[in-house]
Amino acid sequence: MKKKGEKATWITAYDFPMASFAEQAGLDMILVGDSLGMVVLGYKGTVPVTMDDCISHCQAVRRGAPNTFVVGDMPFGSYQVSDEDAVVNACRFLKEADMDAIKLEGGRRVISKIKAISDAGIVVFGHIGLTPQSSGQQGGFKAQGRDVGSARELIVDAIQIQEAGARALLLEAVPPELTEFIAKKLSIPVYSIGAGLPCDGQLMICGDMLGMFQAFTPKFVKKYASVAEVITNAFKEYVDDVKNERFPEDKHVYHAKDSMEDFEKM
Ligand code: KIV
Ligand code: NA
Repeated sequence: MKKKGEKATWITAYDFPMASFAEQAGLDMILVGDSLGMVVLGYKGTVPVTMDDCISHCQAVRRGAPNTFVVGDMPFGSYQVSDEDAVVNACRFLKEADMDAIKLEGGRRVISKIKAISDAGIVVFGHIGLTPQSSGQQGGFKAQGRDVGSARELIVDAIQIQEAGARALLLEAVPPELTEFIAKKLSIPVYSIGAGLPCDGQLMICGDMLGMFQAFTPKFVKKYASVAEVITNAFKEYVDDVKNERFPEDKHVYHAKDSMEDFEKM
């Protein structure tokens, strides 16, 4: 697709229904992001998410999207300790959840992990720019690479990620000018989340684009639906129906086949 100049479409999903909607809509890829910690588990960030959380959500997504390229996201703590640990945990995504690839955050400081996982025969996606797992060091969820010095750091990271064997790179919240430079410089596909148009495809978080995640909305999100409103209104209508005995109606019940007298004999 990169060679043909065809844009890849990529979205996050964390459960069976969302994955099946994504597959029906013809998305090219699904990411089971550790953003699941915020979008579906209600944590303030991604740091508390465990390997077991990720595996069980990856399994649900795979069941919902059996024919889509699905990337499993390695959670904080699952690849930082050692190369060996990184490979063991990366293998779990393939063996237990049938993932097509894994993604991990960071540039030069995780190069040995990218190489080790890649040498194990696993497709690795890199992820630099805003990296939520290390957002403490970045001073919060903030755009990255906006000055020449930090842009240069990210370019060096990108090149080394490719050289280490990664098969794709995700840029998060960096200027489109930098995205374009990196996408042209690298032979592997470069994808954007909040990194502008000039690259090989786009990723969005389903909870953001569907209007399900209410805590905050990053600048780079385009809202395509208001699902939180739809669901809340449906619940309110249900409450109102029950309180006022408008539900259930006759069509919602199983009438007895025998007369009431037969019941009374019991
Ligand atoms: O977990 C996730 O959804 C991600 C994206 C924010 C890039 O890693
Ligand atoms: Na993530």
